[in-house]
Amino acid sequence: MAINFVLNGEARSEALVSPTRTVLEYLREDAGLTGTKEGCAEGDCGACSVVLVRNGSDRVEAVNSCLLTIGQLDGARLTTVEGLSEKAGELEAVQAAIVDEDGTQCGFCTPGFVIALHALRHGDELVSDAVIHDALAGNLCRCTGYRSIVAAAHAAIAAPGDASPVMATPAPAAGETYEAQGQAFLAPTSLDALVAARVAHPDAPLLSGGTDLGLSFSKDRRAFPVTIFTQNVAQLKRIEEGDAGIRIGAAVTYSEALPRIEELYPSFAALIRRIGSRQIRNVGTFGGNIGNASPIGDTPPCLIALDTTLTLHGPTGPRDIALEDFFIDYRKTELAADEVIASLTIPKLADNEVFRTYKVSKRYDQDISAVVGAFRLTIDNGTVTEARIAFGGMAATPKRAPACEAALVGQIWNEDAARRAGEAARQDFRPIDDHRATANYRLRVAGNLFVRLHRDLEGADKIEVTTL
Ligand SMILES: Cc1cc2nc3c(=O)[nH]c(=O)nc-3n(C[C@H](O)[C@H](O)[C@H](O)COP(=O)(O)OP(=O)(O)OC[C@H]3O[C@@H](n4cnc5c(N)ncnc54)[C@H](O)[C@@H]3O)c2cc1C
Ligand code: FES
Ligand code: FES
Repeated sequence: MAINFVLNGEARSEALVSPTRTVLEYLREDAGLTGTKEGCAEGDCGACSVVLVRNGSDRVEAVNSCLLTIGQLDGARLTTVEGLSEKAGELEAVQAAIVDEDGTQCGFCTPGFVIALHALRHGDELVSDAVIHDALAGNLCRCTGYRSIVAAAHAAIAAPGDASPVMATPAPAAGETYEAQGQAFLAPTSLDALVAARVAHPDAPLLSGGTDLGLSFSKDRRAFPVTIFTQNVAQLKRIEEGDAGIRIGAAVTYSEALPRIEELYPSFAALIRRIGSRQIRNVGTFGGNIGNASPIGDTPPCLIALDTTLTLHGPTGPRDIALEDFFIDYRKTELAADEVIASLTIPKLADNEVFRTYKVSKRYDQDISAVVGAFRLTIDNGTVTEARIAFGGMAATPKRAPACEAALVGQIWNEDAARRAGEAARQDFRPIDDHRATANYRLRVAGNLFVRLHRDLEGADKIEVTTL
């Protein structure tokens, strides 16, 4: 089978390109579309942004082509900066606004900004300054300065609407297998077929959004004999909600889940909005964040504090495991070689339960955490009756804080109790020094977050999330 997709409104069928060739390389070197630029090749600068409507999706989204593979394009519609205008010789609204507002100097970053704003213009958000800043947080400009780019964003959003050309051409059907250059790309569409592929190829990487794994292709130039793509498995793409909780498929992206998370756990939503950039959140998934098993992944501490259950699926069917028991040691998990993460189920909060999470990093946007603290407290008549507290960045795995929890349960909820619980973090954790933070800094920050939590719950801390 070939990889079939739409590029700038024209059907493309590629049968010879390596499935893990990055889309950025393909565009610049094979398709001759050099308007899409390479800056960092690791998802940090946004110069390589393209507009993508993924297979099976109707969302017009900006993504980083440096972390996207050709295999992921099967059944998708892709538009580059060369294909945004519907009328030959005329600039598209964002391009025209960038010119009018002097939003470019050397121009290297400009195609990426245009793409990010084109996707924003064709989304369904109520656009404000904050939303524009959020949409542009994944795009770096070294010379123009952002004021004129933000002015161009406002002008383009206000300009008369035209349809995005990305949706003008119907998407082709996607296949389930592709092989080229000695590499197989398996894209099963059912959970059983995904598990069968995993059983047949236990050493093959599972590729979801590719925002972690994509670095193996873009930076390390690895060529795996077999890659198994999870995004076409219908069961992994569902969000289901009942009275007890919400079940999120492992291949659901952050952007897809955000509206429901926002309603159920607003503090968690605020943290998710700080995972990478929009380009990253448009393809990055919960399953990938958990499967990656990093000690500084942002969602696991939150999900552990929220008492999340993972459903793993293997040849004998599903099995459930509490997320807090899933991580065994540094990047080691309970996932067997023939299993996949199928979904995660997060209980809803009861009326007497509160949940807050705080990410501490050197920059507000586009930065990996030094520490993430996540707190779910049950407070009855002013007394803490239950506490589930978890941290990331404090140990080899995301982990609960039993001494902190014990220090809080049974206590009247006031700042003294919060401070005592914070001091107990020294019993729970022996963090390491690294280039992000020293062990002592991490312990102090973890302790201080309890005071922050208290002030936040008392309404004294009006800032939702800040970098300390
Ligand atoms: C620029 C940039 C910024 C980032 N910022 C952040 C950040 O702020 N916070 C943060 O936490 N992370 C961040 N990340 C990391 C990454 O975006 C997240 O970890 C994301 O959730 C990974 O999801 P994915 O779908 O892209 O995973 P992939 O890259 O596709 O996969 C990641 C790992 O999970 C495994 N996996 C995927 N799906 C499954 C499954 N169903 N079952 C079992 N294993 C599976 C894969 O085999 C692989 O080992 C950033 C990455 C980049 C490039
Ligand atoms: S080249 Fe920098 S994000 Fe892709
Ligand atoms: S215009 Fe030069 S980097 Fe933005």
